[in-house]
Amino acid sequence: MKISDMLMDEETLFREEGVFTPTYLPDQYNHRDSQLKSITMALKPGLRGMNPLNTLIYGPPGTGKTTAVKYVFKELAESTTKLIPIYINCEDNNTPFGIFARIHEAVYGFSPPDTGKPLESVKESVFRKLAKDKKSVVIALDEIDQLFVRKNVDKILIDLLKSHSTYGYDKIGVFGILIDDRFMADLDIKARSVFNPERIHFQPYSKEEIKEILSVRVKYGLYDGVLSSQLLDLIVEKTFSQGDLRVGLDLIRRSAYLAEKEASRKIKKEHIEKAFGEMPKNINLKNTIDSLDKQEKQLLCFIASTMETGSGRIFEKYSRQNDVGIKKYNEIIDKLEQYKIIDTQYKTGERGRSRDILLRHDKEEIKKLVGDL
Ligand SMILES: Nc1ncnc2c1ncn2[C@@H]1O[C@H](COP(=O)(O)OP(=O)(O)O)[C@@H](O)[C@H]1O
Ligand SMILES: [Mg+2]
Repeated sequence: MKISDMLMDEETLFREEGVFTPTYLPDQYNHRDSQLKSITMALKPGLRGMNPLNTLIYGPPGTGKTTAVKYVFKELAESTTKLIPIYINCEDNNTPFGIFARIHEAVYGFSPPDTGKPLESVKESVFRKLAKDKKSVVIALDEIDQLFVRKNVDKILIDLLKSHSTYGYDKIGVFGILIDDRFMADLDIKARSVFNPERIHFQPYSKEEIKEILSVRVKYGLYDGVLSSQLLDLIVEKTFSQGDLRVGLDLIRRSAYLAEKEASRKIKKEHIEKAFGEMPKNINLKNTIDSLDKQEKQLLCFIASTMETGSGRIFEKYSRQNDVGIKKYNEIIDKLEQYKIIDTQYKTGERGRSRDILLRHDKEEIKKLVGDL
């Protein structure tokens, strides 16, 4: 077969490939009634012209947090203009200016001119307009832990939630979305007291729930008969073992590609096994490691390769080969800990307080994910 024939060959196993992509918002969103109810309750004061309740939405990856918030925000935007929902992903917007630029877009319908307009004036125009129009606003900061990267989190929360004292605007609520609710302990005292959130927990789905969600997706996404119910069960098992729905969606998509590549009209067991073998087992860890800079990756790799566990000893050895000072070294260690890649434990030894560094993941897995530097 010629390449041109292959490219033109329109036969596909997908009825609608888009339903397997991470940004797809499903029409049906079941099994999260209590969470949806709590999110709605947190918004209610906003509909009465007050501030929505600050809320922390937390739970492991792939448990539907982002989807739940987008789902409710979509309905909200369709049913009222009193309360403006604004969704921001902090991985893409991790500075105060970035966050306020997104808010400006939502409030005015266009971005602030980027020719040196200072943060203060963007903030001012946003809050003055919201106050004048008498609107409430809810701002969802998804992956809010990303704001720790540049230590921006405290400033951003205070900028958002103390707008009353400077601009006379107080109808704002913030949703923080992340994996681990230990987040609060990492805030400084002032930010903690202005944020002081309600909590909504997303626990992993049960096997039955995973099966139901994936079979709906298969019905929309693949042609009839492409994936047998037995093989769907196999995918459900693998998804359940990882606790992350994205694994299942990704696995179906990749298995279908492998089947297409062999011009098979059905997904076979070997396609699923092969696709699963090729997938990074911890998508979340991979994303986290990808977001590190070179120096951070280097140190992480060193930690994964050395037998030492004492922070001081690791620094001694590492700094012999690399140009890094103790301050920078400690900053990176703190960051790796905040990102849940390592744990540190203080112990009292001969040389006063020092800490042990423990990897939270398999050494080989980490080295593989860091890849070539
Ligand atoms: N209850 C559900 N019904 C249908 N699809 C869901 C449900 N929960 C999660 N998903 C799907 O699983 C994937 C991961 O969900 P997501 O909201 O991104 O998880 P999180 O933000 O918790 O990591 C998305 O593709 C989403 O569409
Ligand atoms: Mg998410």
